This record gives sequence, C-alpha cells and structure tokens, in this order.
Amino acid sequence: MRIERARGTRDFLPAEMRKRRIIEERMRDVAERWGYEEIRTPTFERSELFTLKSGEAILKEMYEFKDKGDRHLALRPELTAPVIRMYINELKMAPKPTKWYYFGNCFRYEEPQKGRFREFWQFGTEIIGSDSPEAQAELIALAFNILKSLGVKAELHVGHVGLIRERLRFVHADEETINTVMRLMDKKDWQAVIEFMGDIGVKGELIDDLLFLLDLKGKDALKEARDRNIIAPDSDAIKELELLLELLEYYSVDYTLNLGIARGLDYYTGMVFEIYDAGGMLGAQNQICGGGSYRLAALFGGEDIPSTGFAFGIDRLAEIFSVDDTDLERRGVVVVPIRDKDAYREVTKEAVEIASRLREFVPTHIDLMNRSLSAQLKYANTRQDSFAVLVGKNELGEGKVTLRNLNTGEQEKISFVDCVAKLKAYFDLN
Ligand code: HAM
Repeated sequence: MRIERARGTRDFLPAEMRKRRIIEERMRDVAERWGYEEIRTPTFERSELFTLKSGEAILKEMYEFKDKGDRHLALRPELTAPVIRMYINELKMAPKPTKWYYFGNCFRYEEPQKGRFREFWQFGTEIIGSDSPEAQAELIALAFNILKSLGVKAELHVGHVGLIRERLRFVHADEETINTVMRLMDKKDWQAVIEFMGDIGVKGELIDDLLFLLDLKGKDALKEARDRNIIAPDSDAIKELELLLELLEYYSVDYTLNLGIARGLDYYTGMVFEIYDAGGMLGAQNQICGGGSYRLAALFGGEDIPSTGFAFGIDRLAEIFSVDDTDLERRGVVVVPIRDKDAYREVTKEAVEIASRLREFVPTHIDLMNRSLSAQLKYANTRQDSFAVLVGKNELGEGKVTLRNLNTGEQEKISFVDCVAKLKAYFDLN
C-alpha cells in the first residue's frame, strides 16, 4: 500500500533544508544582534488558549482533538498566544520589556494553494511589556533588517485597528460587532462591510467616513482624514501613529499608510502592519510578514501587559529567497577503506580514525556498504565530494594515506598528519 502525505503538508529534501537552514541562520543572527533571545513553546496547547481571543477565522481552521485523558487540545495555529501564556506561566516578574524570538511550525486547516499550506513555519518576535511607538518602530525596522540580510525586496503597509475601532465604538458598536466588521475588512469585502453596518443601524455619512478611512493610502492619508474632520486631532491612536511614522523615517524604513489593514486575528489593539513581497513571485499569497500591538496577557491570568510582535512566513520567504548555488552544495571528503580480506581490521581501524579526525571540521563519509574501491569512488562522485582519502594495506605499510582531489584527479601519498593539515587548510579557505 502506498501512503501519501497528508494534504497541505510537504516533505523537504536536503537541498531545501540547507536553504531553510541558511534563512534561519540569517534571521537568528539579526535577531540576536538586536538583543532578542530565542524561546520555544509546545506544538500543541489546550484549545482555550486559542479559542479565547484569536478570533473566528482561526477557530474555523484549527486542528483540534481530544487526548486519551479527554483533554481538549489544539495544534498551534500561531505562536503569539503560546508565547504570552509561557511568559505568564514562567516569567511574569521579569523586567520589561522582554524581547523574544522563535521558530516553529503552525497548523491551519486552510485550502492549500501556492504559498498556503496546512503545516507551515513561522519566525516571529514579541516585545512583551511595550506597545509604544518606539517598540513598534524597532520591530518593523528589525523585520526590514532581516529582509535585507536575505536580499528580499518588500513593501510595508502600516495601519491602526485602534482608529477604526474608536470610530465604531463612537456609534456604540459592541466588541463582537466590531470584530465582525474587522473580519470583513480583512477580506477586503467592502460591499459586505456596507451591508453589515447598514444591518446594525449605521447610516450613510458614517459609512462613507469609514470607507474613506479604509481606502486611504500613502503618506498624506492622515492629513487628508484630519482635513475632512473624520478623525479627531487629539485621538491617541493618531498621535501614536504619527510618532511611529516619524520614527520609521529615522530607521530609513519606507512605508505606505493603509488604514484598511484589519489582520486575521482578533487580539490586535493598536498599530498593525503587513509586509508584502515586492518581487511578484508569490502570486495571491504575497504577505510574508504580519504583526502589530496587542494585549493578551490579562486574558491568560496575568496583568494587562501591552505587547508588540510580528511573524514571518518562512515557507513564503523560502520560495523567493535565492541563494548562491555554491552555498547549497555540501562538498566534503570520502574516506575509502580498501578492505582486502587479510587486512580488514587494520584498514577499517585506520579509516575510522581518519574519518573521526576529519569530522571535526568537514563533512566526511566512510563506506557503509562494504563496496569495492571503484564503487566507493563512484558513490563519492554522485555526491560531489571534493576529496577522497584512500586507506589500503600498501599505504598502511608506509604509514601513509593517498589523498585524491576528485575534481582534478591528482593524487599523492602523504602522512596522516599532512593529509589532515592539507584538508584543513583547503576547507578553511573554501
Ligand atoms: P499571521 O499574519 O496570521 O500572523 O501569520 C504570519 C505570517 O505567516 C503571514 O504573514 C504568512 O507569511 C504566514 N502564513 C500564515 N498562514 C500561512 C499558511 N497557511 N501557509 C503559509 N504561510 C502562512 C500571526 O500568526 C501573528 N501571530 C503574528 C504576530 C506576532 N502578531 C503579533 N505577534
């Protein structure tokens, strides 16, 4: 019976894993230099962690199950709620802000398509303890530094759910109603927004104002909204947004103001942002990063801690990240024991010792199939190894090994110590 992998999941071959490793290393490197520390949370959590506040869209997509002890569990659809849960469980007295980053797989029962999977990977960061414009600007700038390290060109859209929520609260909309409007906005279904607001009794001019806000784009959007008296000049949301935009300029990050960003998760309270691939390779699923300010801590039994974070979709980045092919080739050494029957032991012992020494600094193989000399070299060629170290009875008798350059075919008989020194010098340089 042939068993296929589950829909929406993927297998990753070594070349893809090497590419992903490079992406991860670069992300980790930048995050560490910006003073963030790595953490990890479990792959599954109690369902309530996500049902409490992540929002209806996520709930419909959740992989939920009961374990043998009848507990309701869920595979994590995202990592912000688990990270805040962990913070409250483990560290709530820690000095603020706490700056963390993480890598992890997430699970969402979505319709699979290019760039959208049921199991996908995120790299995210959270600043726990601050949602100030300074924290927001640092995070966005960090995201752009990561993209720079990956050579990915991208476009930033910044919005503020607080503004829209403020406007809706003004017409006495309750939180549930506001969440519904935000969800329709996230789908960019403006017609549905108009109909829904009509249903809850919001009338003409106000609908026009809201749609005007949602449609505003570009640097002068806030000024336009103010000129039309749609937003109050003393609104906290506006002051926060204006300072953020100024700080982004200090960090030299270009932005488009887009008040129509609603995000698919319900926990955001203030600034929200999305980053889209500018290269056009991803098609419809071109959002490579999303984040914003939120408050989840009080919900999970902590004090009300303002926080800000974002997550990149690693699968989408892997699709657009181009890496020099030579980075992906794993050239190494093959140690070739020539095991004549009467010298099996000595040759194998020497070969294992040499391989162990070489494995201290270079990927090294040794025959595991009891193959002949020519079959071992053929295998080395298919793997594109750079050198072979031949260990046979003759070499042993002279206290030497044969070092063969598999690219040029040149070979020489040299002592074990010289062989290690030559390979070390070569791989340090290459
Ligand atoms: P999110 O926008 O739902 O935010 O996901 C973040 C990123 O994960 C997206 O921008 C996208 O690149 C990637 N992504 C989402 N769904 C899929 C999928 N089905 N297949 C492939 N990639 C996907 C969050 O999850 C928030 N926790 C971000 C955050 C952190 N907000 C505050 N802190």
